[in-house]
Amino acid sequence: MGSYFSRKPLSSLLSETAETGEHQMKRTLGATNLIMLGIGAIIGAGLFVRTAAAAANNAGPAVTIGFVIAGIGCALAGLCYAEFASMIPIAGSAYTYSYATMGQLVAWIIGWDLVLEYALGAATVSIAWSEYLNKLLHYFGLNIPFQWCHSPFEVMKDAAGMVTAHGLMNIPALFIIFCLTMLLIKGTSESAFVNGVIVVTKVAIVILFIMFGWSFINPVNHTPFIPPAQTYIDTQGVAHNFGGILGILGAAGVVFFAFIGFDAVSTTAQEAKNPGKDMPIGILGSLAICTVLYLLFAYVLTGIGSTNDFRTVGREASVTYAIQTYMHGFGWLAKLVTVAILAGFSSVILVMLLGQSRVFYSMSKDGLVPPVFSQLHPKFKTPYKSNMLFFVFVGLFSAFVPGEIVGDMTSIGTLFAFILVCAGVMILRKSNPETPRPFRTPWVPIVPILGIIVCGAMIFGLGPPNWYRLLIWMAIGFFIYFGYSRRNAKY
Ligand code: ALA
Repeated sequence: MGSYFSRKPLSSLLSETAETGEHQMKRTLGATNLIMLGIGAIIGAGLFVRTAAAAANNAGPAVTIGFVIAGIGCALAGLCYAEFASMIPIAGSAYTYSYATMGQLVAWIIGWDLVLEYALGAATVSIAWSEYLNKLLHYFGLNIPFQWCHSPFEVMKDAAGMVTAHGLMNIPALFIIFCLTMLLIKGTSESAFVNGVIVVTKVAIVILFIMFGWSFINPVNHTPFIPPAQTYIDTQGVAHNFGGILGILGAAGVVFFAFIGFDAVSTTAQEAKNPGKDMPIGILGSLAICTVLYLLFAYVLTGIGSTNDFRTVGREASVTYAIQTYMHGFGWLAKLVTVAILAGFSSVILVMLLGQSRVFYSMSKDGLVPPVFSQLHPKFKTPYKSNMLFFVFVGLFSAFVPGEIVGDMTSIGTLFAFILVCAGVMILRKSNPETPRPFRTPWVPIVPILGIIVCGAMIFGLGPPNWYRLLIWMAIGFFIYFGYSRRNAKY
């Protein structure tokens, strides 16, 4: 069962890539597929839903500065990720890397933490999908009743602030998780093809919005660019630090969600044709493209609609709202954006669910979670039982928890994992200096240390309720670790 600090030897990690049989996945993904997977996972609800939410609750137009901070944090962590991913071409993401560097206990912490990133990330996007589905249905004169597309913790209020409806269950969110789980069970390369088509559409829509929206920016909405610090109570009664430094850090933590996913590329390393070269390209390439698009998008969106719009009538499906309300003559764009966003969200959920099942695949092979998570389908060679179990887990969050809560839990969980990855790259340079590194993080230890500081600042910005949720999640994880994983660990 190993000790808390026993490491999985790099040699046994590498020999697993040569393994055949029931537990071996097919290698079908090249560099382009990996960038596609990356962008597929990156551009989604963070941009199209959380940007407006961060403007409303945290920073107004200064959400754009939040994007700069989040982008810097991701670039620093991404450089560390790329070194790991190129050294250890095995499925499993930060989990696998940490098992080889920091030992069993830290590996468990990261693996468990990544459930927040992938499973809850998928849930968050499915909830956003539900918002835009409703928008699409409006075009056909249809409407899903509020109670069937919101969690029990959300209420609808009229202009006078009176509660007019209570949420019960988010059925569309559950539906999309189900459909994509089925697609994943069928196989990675098929899903990568569908993903590629969607990614092209998604990027095109973002560019169109920036291009056409630019001339509709109203300078009044950008003034003051950084609102003075104050407390804002949102329509659901939750208090937020708005404006000032704290507001910007909070916004950075919220929109950090928009960057999550570039690391999901590394979870598919075992299916990559040439992981040493293609992994860093996949990770850093998709990150660079998205950062540029995000800054421009946030600037344009907060210039077209006001902070007050995003707090009230434009609170849901905000991008479509902004186009319909302020960009006259662009009704076609609003419709196109709605459809593209629905497809785009699907690709994000797909990669998140894919990442989740791959992390648990590795953990299961190491004995930290039960063998059921690494059993492959006899024909499709996908971990179908794991996919189905995660459908149930993710579905519960999709159906019954508000998007804001799962979104911020995803952000804080991922930030925490990034911090551990940054620390890991420094440790591995000392403990395994000879191991070949097809990609080397520049300026170690400066880059990892800065990564830890910037990600730590965003965790701070996310505020006490999210810190406590992270602690509770980790406490549950320790319970499982001492009850099961320690006794069954192979290393
Ligand atoms: N980055 C992904 C999104 O924004 C998770 O939807």
